[in-house]
Order: sequence, then structure tokens, then C-alpha cells
Amino acid sequence: MHYHRRKSWAIRESLATEESLFMNRRQLMAGAGALAGAGLIGGAAQALPAEARFSPAVRRAGGFPHATTPVTPESINSTYNNFYEFGSSKSISREAQALNSDPWTLTIDGDVEQPLTLDIDALMNRMPMQERVYRHRCVEAWSMVVPWIGFPLKDLVALAAPLSKARYVRFETFFDTDTAPEQKASWYPWPYSEGITISEATNDLAMIVVGAYGKVLHKQFGAPLRLHLPWKYGFKSIKSISKITFTSRKPKGFWETLNGREYGFWANVNPEVDHPRWTQATEKPLGQDDRVPTQLYNGYGAQVAGMYAGMEGDRSTWF
Ligand code: MTE
Repeated sequence: MHYHRRKSWAIRESLATEESLFMNRRQLMAGAGALAGAGLIGGAAQALPAEARFSPAVRRAGGFPHATTPVTPESINSTYNNFYEFGSSKSISREAQALNSDPWTLTIDGDVEQPLTLDIDALMNRMPMQERVYRHRCVEAWSMVVPWIGFPLKDLVALAAPLSKARYVRFETFFDTDTAPEQKASWYPWPYSEGITISEATNDLAMIVVGAYGKVLHKQFGAPLRLHLPWKYGFKSIKSISKITFTSRKPKGFWETLNGREYGFWANVNPEVDHPRWTQATEKPLGQDDRVPTQLYNGYGAQVAGMYAGMEGDRSTWF
């Protein structure tokens, strides 16, 4: 029952949005209807049958500290995306439908007891599903608030059983120029990759996302599984992950490889450290007219600042 205890970042139950009940990924993808199950509300997630793991009971397990910030309408951010595999404009939602996200396997390798390849449905059946309404702040200074569904990355780290020499986790997106022709562009360091430390990966807030807005993840959001690290600039939240590697060497991600002066390893949100080409002091929430002040660690300092104690003066931790 550990995921029923309210975390410091959780919203009050009365503020949680109730959306449709839903079934497991494969059934949803086959177009099955909603699960008739008002009786499940308030039930223990572990007691639910596997096909009902995305129930409202599950969705109450997570939340968001800034309850007054409205959730970004799905219609807006599902048509305004960064997914360079399908183009460098924001309007790639149609192109992204070419992504073949079923079947999907995730390989876990590197410094682990035993390398693993898991089918995504098998993986989801082993993980505690939660809904978390998180803020997302892109390095380009736009932001959104999304009710994600997924599971704590730390549970996946536990499943992977990394060796003590592993200090970092590297994530990699698929590589398939047939479905993502932009991956033929040789000036980009494909496949997209990102890296974080083990302590970041095991922080309470780090989440592997498999759904949003009560549904299986849209392809343009990075189906079937993506990372979400709400205290970091959005480029760290890699989409459509196919491989996770535990390593003793600090990984260099897609954007850092492309331009290390503008996009670094840490990329923690800080309104006081500008991007070399624009201010980071404010941001434009998608769907709103006015810019709002950006918050240190995107508002999640209470949960994450401790990981960076003593590093605050290091400018590189902020981009
Ligand atoms: N992951 C992959 N594989 N490819 C990308 O181009 N863009 C990143 C991140 N993850 C990106 C990615 C950036 S810059 C941002 S801001 C977010 O995805 C955008 O997520 P969204 O489209 O769901 O808003």
C-alpha cells in the first residue's frame, strides 16, 4: 500500500480530475470501451485485476503541488510537440502516427546483474501505476501541465538490479528511418539519448510515463514509454525509450552532443540562469496569453534540491 501514502508533491483528492476509467494498453489500442467499475474508486491498486490498473484508485496515488495551475488542454499540447524524429517543427503529430509502438520491447543492459529485454505489457504488469499531474518546462521557455500516468523510475531501477559501479542511467530512443525519416538527417546524433545520475533516477519524482489524460500515451507524446523529470528542462524527458543502460561513465545526450554550450548534462530549471540566446526568467504556458515567472527547479525544489547540495554555484547544473 506504499503508493497510497500522500507524498509531499501530491494534490488533495478533491482536486484530482476524474476522467474515464480505462483498461490495459492492448485492450485500449484494440478500441475496447471503458471499464464499468465505479466500485473500483477508492480501492487498493494492488487488488485490481491487471486490466484495471489505470483506474481512478491508481490515479489518486499521484499528484502535483501547484494545484491552482490548470491542466493544459489535451487538444493544445497534443498538437504542439518536440519530437525531432518526425520533424523539427512543433506540428509533427500527424507524422508521429507512423511510429510503430505495438509491439514494443525495452532492453536493460550495461552494469546490471542480468541484462533484460521486456515486453512493455509485461513490464507494466509488474509496475505500480499512478497518475501524477506534473509541470513541464521546455528549455525554449514554453510550459504545460499534464496528468501523466506511469510508474516511478526507481521501481524500474530496482527491477534492473544495477551493480554498485553503475553511477548513471542512459536512455535511448528507437532508431528506424522507415517510420521516422528525419533520422536520416546525418547532422543529428541519432538515436536520441539522454542520461541522468542514479540518485536522480531513484528520486521520488522521476517517472516513466505510459499514458496521459486518462489514455494510453499518444504517439506524439513519445509512446509507448517516455521519461518525465519535472524539475529539469523538457529535453531530458526522452520519448519512445527502447533501451536503458546502467553505466559508470557520464552519458552525453542528444542536445549536449549537438551543442554543449547551450544544453548540458544537468539541465535543472533555474529562472536566474539564462540560455545564451534567451531569458529563462519567464515562460509561456501553452493555451494562456500571458507569460508567468519560471520557478527554481520548476517548483520542485523541496523534493530535489538536496541532490545538488554544494553544487549550486556550478553554472553547468542549470542548463
Ligand atoms: N525525445 C525524443 N526522442 N525526441 C525529441 O525530439 N524532445 C524533447 C523531449 N523528448 C524529444 C524527446 C523536448 S526538447 C521536449 S520539450 C519534450 O520531449 C517535449 O515533449 P512533448 O512533445 O510531449 O511536449
